[in-house]
Amino acid sequence: MHVNQPLQLLGGMTPQLFMKRHWQKKPLVIRQAFPGFTPLLNRSELFTLAAQQEVQSRLLIQNAGRAKQGWQFKQGPFDRRELPALKRPGWSLLVQGVDLHRDSVHGLMNQFRFIPDGRLDDLMISYATDGGGVGPHFDSYDVFLLQAHGRRRWRIGRQKDLSLQEGMPLKILANFEPEEEFVLEPGDMLYLPPKYAHDGIALGECMTYSIGFRSPSRGEIAQELLQRIADQAQDTAGSTLYKDPRQEAVENPAEIPAGMLFFAQDALARALNDPLIMARALGEYLTEPKADVWFESMVASAPEHPGPLQLDRKTKMMFDASHIFINGESFLASGKDAKIMRQLANDRVLDGGAFDKLTAQAQELLLDWQDAGWIQWGAE
Ligand code: SIN
Ligand code: CO
Repeated sequence: MHVNQPLQLLGGMTPQLFMKRHWQKKPLVIRQAFPGFTPLLNRSELFTLAAQQEVQSRLLIQNAGRAKQGWQFKQGPFDRRELPALKRPGWSLLVQGVDLHRDSVHGLMNQFRFIPDGRLDDLMISYATDGGGVGPHFDSYDVFLLQAHGRRRWRIGRQKDLSLQEGMPLKILANFEPEEEFVLEPGDMLYLPPKYAHDGIALGECMTYSIGFRSPSRGEIAQELLQRIADQAQDTAGSTLYKDPRQEAVENPAEIPAGMLFFAQDALARALNDPLIMARALGEYLTEPKADVWFESMVASAPEHPGPLQLDRKTKMMFDASHIFINGESFLASGKDAKIMRQLANDRVLDGGAFDKLTAQAQELLLDWQDAGWIQWGAE
């Protein structure tokens, strides 16, 4: 990604400038971010996805007048017959993670890779009939809202009062104070930083794509990393036993000896002492596939004339200074192997010539990944 090259999808701004001026800071409306955009899935293809067990979907039906308590909320999957009639106004179907199911959608999301993969989450598609929307709310994460089909009226505001209506099945702002309003046409896009209040209402039938991000909280990251570090703690902290040759006879047998606390503190410090352990746990956590992701394994054999090698659209591959991470696993890598593997992680493809330059050990690894369905070879 050339970060200093103006991008149409950022309204002619360079990624560098967008990140400086807008990312996590202020909204941006981009007219014709995708000129002449046509939806990557039509309505019935989206409904078919929403009927699948492994696809997360939600349905929101507003009762007349957008009145308080006038919302019905259901979790998918939805059989086509469970969805309201198309002529009924005011309902929305939200389908999460469509990038995992369609190469075209994954390709669209990849256009946002001027932001680190560690922050990109998924692409959600919403379908709405006239007047449909999810109500005034805020999201905790950044989002690009691309209008894919039909028109949607957005109202947005940077209010500080983020209190929510009580007793609702979804998060709806108690006191929405919009400051700006605009109608997005197909190909237009709105970027919103976290916690920016917004409400999008369909003007006729409409589809909107949300390119969403994730950012872990401190608590979540601590829990995730500690769990991974815990799995290795038997090795890293060692098998030395607690000893107490100076233990005196006790009058309070239920009291935990102070020496045991020191021993525990020292054991934990040792478990965290490996300089690479945090980085390894972080990379494994960030590349861990979501719970509903499955790969189709293949019988691996090295092609005689390997064509380009491609990461499966569901594969998450990242790297740091010492490791290559793929789908929750970590590998130490250095030298030429590391350079080529990093190239694969960045470009998500590798030509056959680059494969030939890998050491036998790294080639073997790629075959294992092919076996697991994480990568595929194109024929040449
Ligand atoms: C929608 O697409 O209906 C809502 C997306 C959002 O407001 O975050
Ligand atoms: Co939102």
